[in-house]
Formats: sequence, structure tokens, C-alpha cells
Amino acid sequence: MRLSTVLWCTLASAVAADKPKCSLPPFPDLAASPKAPAGFQLPQGPNRKKVCEVKSTSAGDDAGPAILKAAKKCNRGGTVYFPEGNEYTIASPLDLTFLQHVDFAIFGTIYFKDDIAAWQGKTFNYPFQSVSLFWRFGGSHVNIYGGGKGVIDGLGQTYWNALVTNKAVLRPILLGTDGLHRSSITGLKMTNSPNWFNFISNSTDILISDMFLDVVQKNASAPAKNTDGWDTFRSSKIVIQNSKIVNTDDCVSFKPNSTSVVVQGLDCTGSHGISVGSLGQYRGQVDIVEDVYVYNTTMTNSGDTARIKVWPGVPPESDLQDQGGGLGRVKNVTYELFHHNGNDNAITITQCYASKNQSMCDAYPADLKIEDVTFLNFTGTLGKKYAPRLGTLICSSPNVCTNIAAHNIDVHPPGGGPGYFTCHNLGDAHLDIDCREIGS
Ligand SMILES: *[C@@H]1O[C@H](CO)[C@@H](O)[C@H](O)[C@H]1NC(C)=O
Ligand SMILES: *[C@@H]1O[C@H](CO)[C@@H](O)[C@H](O)[C@H]1NC(C)=O
Ligand SMILES: *[C@@H]1O[C@H](CO)[C@@H](O)[C@H](O)[C@H]1NC(C)=O
Ligand SMILES: *[C@@H]1O[C@H](CO)[C@@H](O)[C@H](O)[C@H]1NC(C)=O
Ligand SMILES: *[C@@H]1O[C@H](CO)[C@@H](O)[C@H](O)[C@H]1NC(C)=O
Ligand SMILES: *[C@@H]1O[C@H](CO)[C@@H](O)[C@H](O)[C@H]1NC(C)=O
Ligand SMILES: *[C@@H]1O[C@H](CO)[C@@H](O)[C@H](O)[C@H]1NC(C)=O
Repeated sequence: MRLSTVLWCTLASAVAADKPKCSLPPFPDLAASPKAPAGFQLPQGPNRKKVCEVKSTSAGDDAGPAILKAAKKCNRGGTVYFPEGNEYTIASPLDLTFLQHVDFAIFGTIYFKDDIAAWQGKTFNYPFQSVSLFWRFGGSHVNIYGGGKGVIDGLGQTYWNALVTNKAVLRPILLGTDGLHRSSITGLKMTNSPNWFNFISNSTDILISDMFLDVVQKNASAPAKNTDGWDTFRSSKIVIQNSKIVNTDDCVSFKPNSTSVVVQGLDCTGSHGISVGSLGQYRGQVDIVEDVYVYNTTMTNSGDTARIKVWPGVPPESDLQDQGGGLGRVKNVTYELFHHNGNDNAITITQCYASKNQSMCDAYPADLKIEDVTFLNFTGTLGKKYAPRLGTLICSSPNVCTNIAAHNIDVHPPGGGPGYFTCHNLGDAHLDIDCREIGS
């Protein structure tokens, strides 16, 4: 350990002779704890031998090219370093999908230029939910860390203002991965994302820890929208842990083909929950969310909390392709230790998402099954919005909704006392809750 540090210092002072840097901030401790997906692998390292410091951007300049240059220079064994106190404004797309054994020590503040017109046609775009990205990370053995100091600021208010008059305005996601493996993202503050904060796609063995995400709204007539904390897509063996999120949409959302995901130790305020879906929107497409464990969550002033959203089936004569009728499954999803403070619902399952009415949903049940879902050890008090109702578990047919379990649900309406849940079409279930049919 010591020897390689000395070697690195020697190399670094030779490269940057004017300003020897032997004081790269400490590398974070990486561990998925207390739970981890089966076979989860941490990145190799740290044993970086080179440091590529990125200088602050001068007013009006674009930090993008300098960051790209540093990433190329330090790839395969170095650390791209953004020192504390430095500020950077990225004004052009940054494709960092070639990374191997390289770290990003972000201790300064990174902004993305809030010039919507200038980003037009330049972001990385994906057909899935019209995702667009300012920058994207891919490769393997990459550690992006901020030691509790680094900040990534999306200057979201500019985009939310524009959204008021233009629903389709370009709103990139603050950080995206596409094909990132055995890597970590830790210790960063992310603020005011124009859209979702993080999109984790085509990725495996990713540890995300000790993050702080917040939305600070400055214009009451232009509220923040779609500020999900993390959305996982086509990814597996992902851990998101020990982080605090203050936002106005999902805290975490598991999109199609998210498997072996552990979410633990999150503190979410103002969110729409830790949500599976929505799934099954596209007719004939197969969406899978499987082996998800959500452990030890505290949630405050949120709408939905532990939530599963699935679209129902479509009438055979319908020619609509994006109003349900998807295939696949939600299987083996557990929410354990969930503390509620003033939320609207303690549990929400719907297999009738966006359905016109319950009879339509019952007539054309989902082709996407929900099975083996467990809610365990819930505590706390909800808000008054639906009191004394505590949540809803609505399926489209008992044939496609099986083995739903709820045990030790110690959640109450405001002021205490008992509450109840609305339940419909649950197949074989194991529910230690007061479950009442719709309308009763
Ligand atoms: C707030 O948003 C509205 C709607 O976009 C906009 O007209 C107004 O200028 C914004 N106010 C400020 C202070 O940015
Ligand atoms: C994921 O990988 C697929 C297949 O290589 C590719 O088509 C797609 O653009 C990638 N990214 C996302 C977000 O799907
Ligand atoms: C739950 O998470 C909190 C915050 O991260 C942590 O302090 C606590 O020890 C965790 N509890 C369990 C049972 O893991
Ligand atoms: C999800 O996985 C299923 C089964 O492998 C596949 O048919 C489907 O195309 C995948 N969906 C996406 C969005 O990658
Ligand atoms: C259910 O998912 C969890 C979390 O990924 C995993 O640890 C467990 O082995 C899975 N159970 C089954 C029966 O596959
Ligand atoms: C449900 O919605 C369908 C489609 O809009 C409509 O034809 C039907 O009358 C509605 N049923 C009830 C009970 O409202
Ligand atoms: C869940 O609650 C039960 C009953 O109160 C308790 O025995 C068990 O230890 C709890 N589990 C966890 C992980 O706290």
C-alpha cells in the first residue's frame, strides 16, 4: 500500500512539476452492507498510479473537452481529479463509455450549462421513456467518488420554467450509465436535476452509497417534475444504500429488466416511493423485475411508498400499442423494515395502472404476473389524506397475482388507532392486515 502511494506521488510530481500533488483525498471504503445481491462483485483496486487534475473552467468556457482529455490520459490506472473549491461547467456532451480501471475523484462542483437550446440535438438519446443524457459512463472498474464534498448541479429550475409552456422541452438526466460494470458511485451531492437524477442502464455490479440528492425549488409556478432519484433499466446486481433523498418523484424506480437489486438504508422525503414500474405498458413486450430487496427505509411526507405499478391487458380488438398488454413478471420483491412519517399510503399495488375503470381492468386482466411479493415489519404513522385507509392492493385477476404477503404491519392513521387496506382480486395471499374489498 505505502509503496504504491509513494510511487504515485513520484509520478504525479513529475507530471505536474509546477504543483506536486501527493494529497488526493482518501479513497472511499466500498462495501454492500448489510445485504448484497447473490454474487455481487466490487470493483478491483484501488491502486491508481497516476493523477490527472482538471483545472477550473473560466467563465463561459466548456469543461467537457478537458475532462475527456483527462479521462483518456488517466484511463487504465489513474484518477481524474476535480479538487475541492474548483468549479466546472460542462457545455457539450461527454461520452465516457470507454473507461477501464479509472476513478473520478470529484471534490469540486460540476454544473451543466443551463442553455436548453444549446443542448438541443447534442445529448445522448434513447427511445426508452425519451431518456436523454448530458454525459454517460461505461466500462469497468470505475469509481466515481466525492467524499461528501463533491457536487453535481443540474441547474434544474431553468428546465422546469421552460416545461410550463413546453411539455416536450429537452430535459436531460443528471447522470447516466450505459454498460458500466463492477463500479461505484459514492459520496456525492447531486442537486436540481432537470429530470431523473440517475439512470442506471445496461449495468451490473454497481455500488451506490452515501449520496445526497435534493431538489430546491425556487419558482412556485414552475415546480420540479420527474426528479426520480435512481431509475434502473436492463441492469442487475445493483446496490443503492445509505443515502438521503429530498425530491418530488420516485425515490428509486425499477424499470424493465431490473434484477438482483438491493436498496437499503435510504431516507426519502417528499417522494412517490420506491417503485416497481410502471411495467407492461407496451403490448407484447416482456418486462421483468425480479429479486429485489428493499431493506430499512425511512420515508417522510411521500405519496406512495412501497409501490408496484403494472398496466392491465388490452381488449383484443384494440390497436393501441402503449396502453398496456405487456408480458413478463414482477417476482420475488421484498420490502422489509419500512418506517413511515406522514405518507399517504403504506403499500400500493396496482395491476390496473391507468385503467379507465375497475370493470375494464377486470375484463382484460394483465398478462404481466405479480408473484412472491412480501411486506415485512412496517412501522409509523401516515398522513390524513386517505385516513383511515392505509393503502391499496388492487390486482386485475387472482390468476395473475399470487403469493402476496404482509406481516407485522404496525402502521396507523394520524392520531393512532386501526386502519384498513383496500384489496381486490388477490390470488393465494398471506395477509396479516385488515383487507377490505373495493367499495366495502
Ligand atoms: C417562474 O416560472 C414561470 C413559468 O415558466 C416564468 O414565467 C417565470 O419567469 C419564472 N420566474 C422566475 C423568477 O424565474
Ligand atoms: C443498452 O444496450 C443495448 C444493446 O446493446 C443498446 O441498444 C441500448 O442503446 C443500450 N442502452 C440503453 C439505455 O438501452
Ligand atoms: C438502517 O439505516 C440507517 C441509516 O442508514 C442505519 O443507521 C441503521 O443502522 C440501519 N438499520 C439496520 C437494521 O440495518
Ligand atoms: C427484457 O428481458 C426479456 C427477456 O429476456 C426480453 O424479451 C426483453 O426484450 C427485455 N426488455 C428490454 C427492455 O431489454
Ligand atoms: C429473492 O431476491 C433476493 C434479493 O436479490 C435474493 O437474495 C433471494 O435469493 C431471492 N430469492 C429467491 C427464492 O430467488
Ligand atoms: C368503463 O370504461 C369503459 C371504457 O371507457 C366504458 O365503456 C364503461 O362504460 C365504463 N364502465 C363503468 C362501470 O364505468
Ligand atoms: C421484525 O419484527 C419481528 C416481530 O416484531 C421481530 O421479531 C424481527 O426481529 C423484526 N425483523 C427485523 C429485521 O427487524
